[in-house]
Amino acid sequence: MLLKRTHTCGDLTKGHVGHAVVLNGWVDAWRDFGGLVFIDLRDRYGVTQVVFEPDAGAELQARARDLRNEYVVGIKGIVAHRLAGKENLKLKTGAIEVRATELVLYNATPTPPFEMHGPEPNEELRLKYRFLDLRRPDMQRIFIVRHRLCQLMRNVLSEQNFLEVETPILGRSTPEGARDFLVPSRVHAGHFYALPQSPQLYKQLLMVSGFDRYFQIARCFRDEDLRANRQPEFTQLDVEMSFVEDQDVLSMLEFLVAAMAREFSGQELALPLPRIEYHDAMERFGSDRPDLRYGLELKDVADIADLTEFKVLKQAREFGHRIRGFCAPKGAERYSRKDLDGLTEYAGSFGAKGLVWLKVEADAFAGPTAKFFPQQAQAKLRERFDAKTGDLILIVADTQAVTSQALSNLRARLASELSLYDPKSFHYSWIIHFPLLAWDAEAGRYVAEHHPFTMPMFEDLGLLDSDPAKVRAQAYDLVINGEEAGGGTIRCYDPAIQSKIFALLGLTPEEAEEKFGFLLSALRNGAPPHGGIALGVDRLVMLYSGLTNIRDCIAFPKTAKGTDLMTGAPGTVEAKQLKELHIRLDG
Ligand code: AMO
Ligand code: AMP
Repeated sequence: MLLKRTHTCGDLTKGHVGHAVVLNGWVDAWRDFGGLVFIDLRDRYGVTQVVFEPDAGAELQARARDLRNEYVVGIKGIVAHRLAGKENLKLKTGAIEVRATELVLYNATPTPPFEMHGPEPNEELRLKYRFLDLRRPDMQRIFIVRHRLCQLMRNVLSEQNFLEVETPILGRSTPEGARDFLVPSRVHAGHFYALPQSPQLYKQLLMVSGFDRYFQIARCFRDEDLRANRQPEFTQLDVEMSFVEDQDVLSMLEFLVAAMAREFSGQELALPLPRIEYHDAMERFGSDRPDLRYGLELKDVADIADLTEFKVLKQAREFGHRIRGFCAPKGAERYSRKDLDGLTEYAGSFGAKGLVWLKVEADAFAGPTAKFFPQQAQAKLRERFDAKTGDLILIVADTQAVTSQALSNLRARLASELSLYDPKSFHYSWIIHFPLLAWDAEAGRYVAEHHPFTMPMFEDLGLLDSDPAKVRAQAYDLVINGEEAGGGTIRCYDPAIQSKIFALLGLTPEEAEEKFGFLLSALRNGAPPHGGIALGVDRLVMLYSGLTNIRDCIAFPKTAKGTDLMTGAPGTVEAKQLKELHIRLDG
């Protein structure tokens, strides 16, 4: 029998004293004091204390005594003040308790594999019993943030005239560059659908259709190697706009970002957000998604290396390598010789062949390589890094790529270890004007940095013929706290420029037609200038919930190996199903 609830476990306060109520929920905790049996009853909304008094009858008390954690029950009773001194001001319901008059046990349960409160359970166990893991209040809070975020996105964009349109899940592959998940067709032997890596092409088609402003909270699928902040299926807030330049997309998105910041990071953002040229970001931070909550800017010190007798640096100069570094305030004291060996090893994990470290002391540098830096070089380094006594200078000599990788990661590590920022704070910025193309040495051709439908910067169009690697794109990424939270571009709506880009990507006109014919046809049939962006919803939830693991932000996520420990996906299927799909397995 269902005792139909009158309130949730988060509702009742002093104002309800004397009311007869019914609550439903899970037993969060129980205490048996002989004369009195207490249970805390929990649901999504909160926890309410229920007491079974002797007055309620021996039979009811005896049944209450048999309750255990996570049993599911319905309770009828009267709301009463808690005894003086027994109030719990931390709980919304902490001033009252419910004196039970009826109890219905809906379901008993074996001892749960982990506690609903207390230390974080082992992740494998959590994923296997995800339905229990999601019952934990810590997890429910994350999905409340997720819901509020999506709701806010819908509201803000709807008010700005954006239309929410769904696009197919079974489609043709889109050119995002990751591997596709494929779905075999039963009706068309040997033919496959691809799950969308993003709604990219469809949203462009909607612009050709005159929808003007589109958005979708869209599921995307990419069969790629997973890392802490990546999942094979994830969610984007996908946006596209017509008759816009890049500035218009950025302004519109900033308006949304400001609303998000107001709601989730308690900030009134000053708009426009900082915009950093890709090239400058790589120079100053070694990364196209720098965490700007702290400084530690990189400086080029190649000229100063020339003043030293340091073989390592001299050689780097001969190879035409970069010599770059940064200065960590008060780092000299914090890092022992052993720690610095650790940092050297860390730099090595990004390909650096070593790490020059110099402790800045009152009159000279200290460290095993300090002797290679004559006084003039030391003075120049002090000046370049604005170094003070007690600081630590770190320098790496290597290629552009290796110095960037090693130093950007060292930068993040030292900022955290030296507590140079408040980990609860948020910093928002745009990185703009990414390169259009990257040279793929293995394939011997250019590949698109973002996707092949990106418009070059108009002032760089001439370079498409002379120096394609130098062409900058009308492309932008939203970076929050060192995470790429979103990215987009203005699209190439000019068929002539598009053909040129296809040629650079090594696509013949026939191949381009075969792959993207429908888009090219649409572009020839009255395409407006258009552009857009997609934000990573899971990553935003992760940031706003103060988490570092994207799996915590997805109700039913996959492991790093792409499996679902609860359902066992991916699983095997019956031979008959394979046969219908015209698939034969080897072996
Ligand atoms: P892009 O590929 O940059 O752009 O993706 C946009 C944003 O989606 C998030 N994201 C992911 N989140 C979790 N797991 C993943 N595997 C994953 N991959 C991407 C990131 C990223 O910034 N169609 C274009 C957008 C456009 O041009 O409008 C696109 O998909 O936060
Ligand atoms: P070695 O001559 O290889 O023993 O290196 C001397 C010092 O220079 C050590 O402290 C190394 O960590 C450092 N070092 C070596 N190679 C590099 C490099 N490419 N960049 C920065 N420091 C380096």
